Amino acid sequence: MKGNGETILIIDDKRNILEVLKGYLENEGYNIVTCSNGEKAIELFKESSPDIILTDFKLPGINGIELIKEIHSYDEELPVIVFTAYGSISSAVEAIKVGGYDYLTKPLDYDLLKIRIRRALDEKKIKMENRFLREELDEQYSMDNLIGKSEPMKRLFSIIRTAAPSSSNILIEGEYGTGKELIAKAIHNLSPRKDKPLITVDCSALPENLLESELFGFEKGAFTGAVNRKQGRIELAAGGTLFLDEIGEMGPNLQAKLLRVIQEKNITRLGGLAPIKVDFRLIAATNRNLAEETKRGNFRGDLFYRLNVIKIEAPPLRDRKEDIPLLVKHFMEKISKRENKPPKRMSPGVIEVFYNYDWPGNVRELENCIERMFILSEGELITEDYLPGEIREYTRGKVKPTTRRSIQGSAGEKDTLKNGVNLEEIEREAIVRALEIASGNKSKAAKLLNIHRKALYNRLKKYGLK
Ligand SMILES: Nc1ncnc2c1ncn2[C@@H]1O[C@H](COP(=O)(O)OP(=O)(O)OP(=O)(O)O)[C@@H](O)[C@H]1O
Ligand SMILES: [Mg+2]
Repeated sequence: MKGNGETILIIDDKRNILEVLKGYLENEGYNIVTCSNGEKAIELFKESSPDIILTDFKLPGINGIELIKEIHSYDEELPVIVFTAYGSISSAVEAIKVGGYDYLTKPLDYDLLKIRIRRALDEKKIKMENRFLREELDEQYSMDNLIGKSEPMKRLFSIIRTAAPSSSNILIEGEYGTGKELIAKAIHNLSPRKDKPLITVDCSALPENLLESELFGFEKGAFTGAVNRKQGRIELAAGGTLFLDEIGEMGPNLQAKLLRVIQEKNITRLGGLAPIKVDFRLIAATNRNLAEETKRGNFRGDLFYRLNVIKIEAPPLRDRKEDIPLLVKHFMEKISKRENKPPKRMSPGVIEVFYNYDWPGNVRELENCIERMFILSEGELITEDYLPGEIREYTRGKVKPTTRRSIQGSAGEKDTLKNGVNLEEIEREAIVRALEIASGNKSKAAKLLNIHRKALYNRLKKYGLK
């Protein structure tokens, strides 16, 4: 019940009360600061940072209510106990309403006061400890912008933590939408290079010759169109990190050049003569199994070994479904902030469906799905009604979405049943689905479907899709 040297700020305009309280509470083991008006109290509060405040309701100048409001604008959690006149319930109610922790009626019962002070301080302490724990937990569940608390994610965090400080090359392998880019950013941000640039190059985005000049830069006049000299992305990564995304798509010529850069730590601009020294940390990512590609002769073995100093695997979402609630919460908050809309909740039914689905597009597909549901739904609670049909139907019978839709689809149902399974319908559905998963990115959709981009374009035309 005794004090542990906590500081109490007491405000009362009656000197004798201050004197008595001070003596009594100092004896109980508290450190006491006193004053007789609200203005002075605010000054003292800023100076002495008390653990608790005891104040009379009626004060000259700033009254008790205003004082509580003012103090709480600095520290919302600071407990304030208000003394009110005997029988003045209304002022007590008012004090509690504005956030006073407790009230006591005058004349004061000192034993009761002692108990209330202790209770307020203990509660505050527990609150702080909980908050601290919560923050610690939150931190444990995320790294940079990567979220997860499943075993695969914990392992991932631990590899990132170990690998980040060094300058070793890193290869990140993982399916579409598993967060490979986020992993690369996290590594960079946790490395000593974090204040230098992280330069990203998507090797699948450009044809080989453009990619080469993008990476290496060129001197004026190196080729038609090279009217000015341009620094390459590798040079721009000096001191920092170079992230080569989709490295599996890099052609053999560039693979050979990249190998040389890694070995010799210098580059020569196109049309340039003198090599330029470069210091960068290389992170590469791919959704292919690069060891396999090497065996098949699609990727240079010597380059593979250079890249693969540290291998990081981005786990697919279906192997870490226990992260779904956390991810849902994260994306719901992100979208509500971005859209400037009040927060919403997913019904337990939706979460269950999410658990039953396999998420071929991984976290990106989940994020897109949540975004769509958030935008389309009206109330605060998002129900199963807003689930994309594909996901609902997939999980209902646990039958692959494309075939199920084609057998049950309402529009072409008769045709389908009459003619058996309609292959074109299946193909069309598969394309729509792949585009959805790839967020409309056609080359990614083509890769998902395992067909050439041109083949995808032909089919888009055939089915009148954009
Ligand atoms: N663990 C995660 N926590 C939070 N968000 C994630 C996580 N993993 C992925 N995301 C989100 O999912 C989306 C896809 O992530 P990212 O682009 O890093 O994946 P990727 O593996 O590079 O995909 P792709 O192979 O399609 O390029 C991003 O919006 C990203 O923010
Ligand atoms: Mg990526």
